[in-house]
Amino acid sequence: MSSLIYSHPSIYQLLMRVIYAGGYAARYRALSELIPDGAEVFEACAGDAYLYQHYLRPRSIQYRAGEFNETFVAHARARGIDMQRFDLRQDPVPQADVVLIHASLYQFMPEHRQIVDRLLAAARQTLIISEPVRNLSSSRWALIRCVARRSADPGSGHKAQRFDEHSLDEFVTSHYAERVRQRLLIPGGRELIYCLEGRAR
Ligand SMILES: C[S@@+](CC[C@H](N)C(=O)[O-])C[C@H]1O[C@@H](n2cnc3c(N)ncnc32)[C@H](O)[C@@H]1O
Repeated sequence: MSSLIYSHPSIYQLLMRVIYAGGYAARYRALSELIPDGAEVFEACAGDAYLYQHYLRPRSIQYRAGEFNETFVAHARARGIDMQRFDLRQDPVPQADVVLIHASLYQFMPEHRQIVDRLLAAARQTLIISEPVRNLSSSRWALIRCVARRSADPGSGHKAQRFDEHSLDEFVTSHYAERVRQRLLIPGGRELIYCLEGRAR
């Protein structure tokens, strides 16, 4: 059983709008600006595919997505989106010009390095990692911290670990420094984006 936030794409969207408030659109706009027209994109852990539906679809971008949650997959497919049921822990990552993982890498901690290696191996041009670095689950209030940590189970268990700006910088620079092409914080500073040069040719 997944947490309430993952029970339906509309509930997910509503709660994300509440959590991100004014920064909700900024996170998608920042990602969209990093993806060139005409690119072939694979998004891992795509959730409600909001980025594609509202930012990429109107452009000439070939989009495919993989997602663990069957409700999200069915919802996307009913809207004509090429989303497959996919478990990033074990399924092969399809090659694409741009591979994207958005607000999802923390779910694979402490095995996130293997995940990034596999995503990089699939990216012909760029791997975009965008990760929340200011999280309710690291709130100074114990109650908020506890609720947030127990509210993000996609159906594979609660994910207690999160990045902050320092730990994400440290992870990327210690393993992928030579591949970093861009580093930017979204307006408001809630998410940190890294663009890494892909390894697929
Ligand atoms: C916080 S949401 C992010 C969704 C979307 N990328 C966004 O930024 O709005 C995390 C997503 O990762 C998916 N997920 C969790 N574990 C996964 C796995 N092992 N393989 C594929 N997707 C997974 C969840 O079902 C959920 O939709």
